[in-house]
This record gives sequence, structure tokens and C-alpha cells, in this order.
Amino acid sequence: MRISIHFIATLILGIASMTASAGVPDRNAPLPYPEERTIQQAEQGGTQPGLGDSASGKQHLDRHYLGPYGEPERDVLLQRGGNTWRYLRNEDLALGCGVLLLVMLLVIVGFYMLIGPMRLEHPPSGRTLQRFSVWQRVVHWSTAISFLVLTFSGLLLLFGKKIILPWLGHAAFADLAMFSKTLHNFVGPLFVFCSLAIFVTFVHRNFFIHADLEWIKHFGGLVSKRHIPAGYFNAGEKLWFWGAVTMLGLLMSSTGLVMDFVVLDQTRYQLQIADVLHIAGASLYMAGAMAHIYIGTIGMPGAYRAMRDGVIDTEWAREHHSLWYEQVLATQDESDAMVPVHMPPMPGPIR
Ligand code: HEM
Repeated sequence: MRISIHFIATLILGIASMTASAGVPDRNAPLPYPEERTIQQAEQGGTQPGLGDSASGKQHLDRHYLGPYGEPERDVLLQRGGNTWRYLRNEDLALGCGVLLLVMLLVIVGFYMLIGPMRLEHPPSGRTLQRFSVWQRVVHWSTAISFLVLTFSGLLLLFGKKIILPWLGHAAFADLAMFSKTLHNFVGPLFVFCSLAIFVTFVHRNFFIHADLEWIKHFGGLVSKRHIPAGYFNAGEKLWFWGAVTMLGLLMSSTGLVMDFVVLDQTRYQLQIADVLHIAGASLYMAGAMAHIYIGTIGMPGAYRAMRDGVIDTEWAREHHSLWYEQVLATQDESDAMVPVHMPPMPGPIR
């Protein structure tokens, strides 16, 4: 018992001290500019509060580098936190983001080759069922396209200097980076709007039901290829909705807006924190989106049709979303809900 209390106390202290040190600039980071080295020399032997001091952390940073609380940074000559942020962004975060995206790519390719797509057990019926309205598709496509634009422009900002600059040259890369930055700055607020719209449009379909537990237990039958009963959206889609669209959407929108509109006297320190959270959130969102796009296209044949045309085959609905299918049959006149497949699929909804 005593050992476990000691263990827990050590763990909590360890996590607390790591969190505390995360708020303080890395004092060991080499200082690249002569001005920084001069400041460091001038400060030597001074009375700066250490980690154990109650004035440590953010206050420590503010007092010495950002001016007193509440005051804009008018008298800041040089902020050493910037050095810590630069190392974190260019090394740890860039590496973490790159590794996560590559691992996700490998997992998806491996999954596709070893287990393969989730196909229908029976042939398609040839009759279709309305799944998404025009509005729902417009919202979905707008969110997806703005997300992809932000992804590619964001990745260019993060990795471009290391990967693209060496073969494109400084002049062309400068134009490309400036274009990406401007594009990202303008598409960002559009994505915030799309995220709000997609949340309002689909939230009523995403409340968890008891059957979702079974779906999670069997990982949706993705490995066993068994069709687990699911409602209009299955548990995986709901987790994507709450975890990514909602939570990561909030994180990306808030940190993005903080960096996009520097009109509230944001300090450099706050912008650095926002950027670090933005990159971490972007990495998770992009990795999740890769899995989402896989399952919505080649991972589950027939699913993409719902996004493109708004309809799916009735057999697809019966096997992948059996609870919803039964609900549709119980509440709607069959001839009203289903339409023959030979009707023109494009453009617009089939009714
Ligand atoms: C979910 C989609 C998004 C992804 C994947 C994404 C990704 C990224 C990435 C990778 C960076 C580069 C960070 C760096 O180089 O330090 C970045 C920077 C940035 N993002 Fe986003 N972002 C997204 C959404 C947003 C939104 C919604 C906004 C604004 C409302 C926004 C505004 C910004 C700004 C202002 C920067 C800094 C640009 C600069 O270097 O000046 N982002 N984003």
C-alpha cells in the first residue's frame, strides 16, 4: 500500500514538474543571435525566480520578457521564449507530426492489403435510398475542401523550408510560402464557419445509443468482416464527429483565430502557445482524416456515393446501418424512401 502511495505521489510530482517546466523558456537552448547572448550575459547572477519559486512560470516570463501583466509588449526588445518555441516547432513538433502522418499512411496501406475493404455480403439490390440532402452534401464538401486546403497550405508552412526550398530555390519558395500563408489565413475563418454548420447539421444524428457499445467492442466488424448493427451513423462515425469535428474543430478554430487576428493585445508567448497547440491538433486531425477518407472511399465500397449523389444502395444500408434501415422501413412508405438505381445519379438529389 505504502509503495503504491509513494509511486502515485512520485508520478504526480513528476507530471507537475514537467508541466511547470513546459511553461518556462528552455534555458539550455543555444542562443543564435548576439543580442540574445548579450542579454543572457547581463542577466547572469541576477535574481530571477527559479522553478521552485511561486513567481516562476508565466509570471517569470512576463516580468522579464513581456512587460508587466496586462500591458502590451511595447517595451519588449527580445523574447527568449521565441527560441524555445522555434526549437519545439522546427524539431519535436515537426518530427512528431511527420512521423504520425507516415505511420497512419503505413497502417492504412497495411490494413488494406492484409484485411481489405469492407464489402457487401450480398449483391446490391439496384434500388437506392436517400441518405444526404443537398444541404448536407454542400456542408460536408465545403468542410472537406476547406480542410484539405488548410492541410496542404499548413504542411507547406511547417515542412516547406526543409523539403521544398532546397529544390525550388529561395525566390520561388518565398512566393509559394507567401501564397500558402495568405490562403491559410483566409480559408481558416471559412473552415470555422463550415465546422459550425456541419456541427449544427449533424449533431442530432450523433447521440450515442446502446448498440454503439457493441459496435465499439467488435471494432465495427472491420477486421472480422461481420456487420455489426448500427444506426444512421455508427459508433466510429460518432467518435469522429465528437472527437475530431467538434473537439479538434474547436481547438483548431480557437488557436487559429488567436493567430489570425492579433487585435486583442495577444503577447508573443500566447501566440507561441497557440501555435504549439495548433500544430499538435492539426497532426491529430490530419491523421484522423486520413482514416476517415479511407473508410469513406476504398475502405467501404458504396459509401462515397452518399457523399457524391446523396443516395446509397438499399443493400448497403441494410448491411452497414441495419438499425437505421429498419427505422426507415418502419416509418416511411417504401416507395417514397427508395428509388430505382437507373434514374440519373447526377446532378443533385434523386427523388
Ligand atoms: C483543421 C484544419 C487546419 C489544419 C490542418 C491547420 C494546419 C496548420 C499548420 C500545419 C500550420 C503551420 C504551423 C507552423 O508552421 O508553425 C498552421 C498555421 C496557421 N494556421 Fe492553421 N490549420 C487548420 C485550421 C486553421 C484555422 C481554422 C485557422 C484560422 C481560423 C488557422 C490559422 C492559422 C494561422 C494564422 C497559422 C499561422 C500562419 C503563419 O505562419 O503565419 N488554421 N495551420
